[in-house]
Amino acid sequence: MRRESWKTVIEPFKIRSVEPLGFTDRPEREKALSRAGYNLFKVPAEKVLIDLLTDSGTCAMSMEQWAGMMRGDVSYASSRSYYVFERVVKDLTGYPHVIPVHQGRAGERLVFSFLGGPGKVFLSNMFFDTTRANIEATGAEALDLPADKAFFHGDRRAFKGDIDLAKLEQALRLRAGRVPLVLLTVTNNSLGGQPVSLRNIRDASRLCARHKVPLLLDAARFAENAYLIKARERGQAERTVRSIVREMFGYAQGCLMSGKKDALVNMGGFLAFKDKAWAGKAREILILGEGFPTYGGLTGRDLEAMARGIEEVLDEQYLRYRIRSVEYLARGLRRQGIPLIEPPGGHAVYVDAARFLPHIPAERFPGQALACALYLEAGIRAVEIGSLMFGKREGRRFLPARMELLRLALPRRVYTQAHADFIIEVFGSLARKKRAIRGLRLLKAPRFLPHFTARLAPLRS
Ligand code: F0G
Repeated sequence: MRRESWKTVIEPFKIRSVEPLGFTDRPEREKALSRAGYNLFKVPAEKVLIDLLTDSGTCAMSMEQWAGMMRGDVSYASSRSYYVFERVVKDLTGYPHVIPVHQGRAGERLVFSFLGGPGKVFLSNMFFDTTRANIEATGAEALDLPADKAFFHGDRRAFKGDIDLAKLEQALRLRAGRVPLVLLTVTNNSLGGQPVSLRNIRDASRLCARHKVPLLLDAARFAENAYLIKARERGQAERTVRSIVREMFGYAQGCLMSGKKDALVNMGGFLAFKDKAWAGKAREILILGEGFPTYGGLTGRDLEAMARGIEEVLDEQYLRYRIRSVEYLARGLRRQGIPLIEPPGGHAVYVDAARFLPHIPAERFPGQALACALYLEAGIRAVEIGSLMFGKREGRRFLPARMELLRLALPRRVYTQAHADFIIEVFGSLARKKRAIRGLRLLKAPRFLPHFTARLAPLRS
């Protein structure tokens, strides 16, 4: 189809089923936040007006996906829906062995339970928090090797999600024999949703091959990454996203996939490998906890929805709208003087809370303080990616994270441009009174994934 050159990018869908928003007043929000221990994960969703906590499992499904749900075959073993799903994943990735799991972290647990263990070291451009936790839970080490450009937040260099190839080579040499795999997270969620370039994936793949270490993709946002390659990488503009996706997967030996992002479903995920032996090991463990290998903790319905979602996410009208909506929000926030990670990535806008609130030190959680202020101001919920999530507490010592960010994640196909305009207006209001935003102190936090359940209290001024 020839593309016409209208400047306005519209939502490429009509809305036929709607859900009302949760309007509240400020006293109600103050009460909800205080009850939640200043942890937005514990605020009831009905008390949230616009929910930007995550883009995971929060998408709107299409009519084709709902129709697929009706056609789902729920046979215990070898259901028709499994074969529909398997075909789509094989076409997408080129990997012959496909294992459904109920969500991304279930796949992580399987893989690291047979590859992890004390003394092992896993390398990545940056592990997502559950991935890191699953590795560390086996006694192994998770080592992030992001490119230095990732930390120049205001600077608009492309592909800040890349892995640092020099550091990768050094780590592969120094830790020879102890690295079961290298994992590239595309897009790099913990580093601002920044894409990884095709060139970086290819070069990392060659390095890994030379050291005989398998490369895997954490492919949760593979389509957004591929679209950003098309839009930003030299020589890629004329290709289809599907062919870029095939090339990305072709450089790796397999993938871990949370279907809750770019498979456009509310629940689901999969593992896919070139290697039969790995698939065999994963299936052995799968059956202990997730279920029979042709449904892996899901139903036939979910597999149908995921299969259709994987097809729909490759629609370039959709991807263009998706990336442009993130850019639209970023542009509006920039105009209000809000410091961001630039350029915006695929699924979220990341506010640089350290620069926005320089009066709050890292140990007082500027990202979380901003998350609380945003909720109190207008009921908008976002997530801190900073010292609450990644800071280390060793006895009385506190090691802050490298960045203090607030992530505004955009659920897929859910909010419209008017919602974005509203978010921008609320940030404008916060920017005018930011000196009044106070830090927080930590009252209680568990060892793994502290941000989900931590309790905090505001500091008195
Ligand atoms: N990998 C990446 C890059 C992720 O972003 C996530 C989840 C996972 C793995 C785990 O997948 O949730 O299906 O178990 N990210 C969500 C987020 C939770 O909000 O960014 P899951």
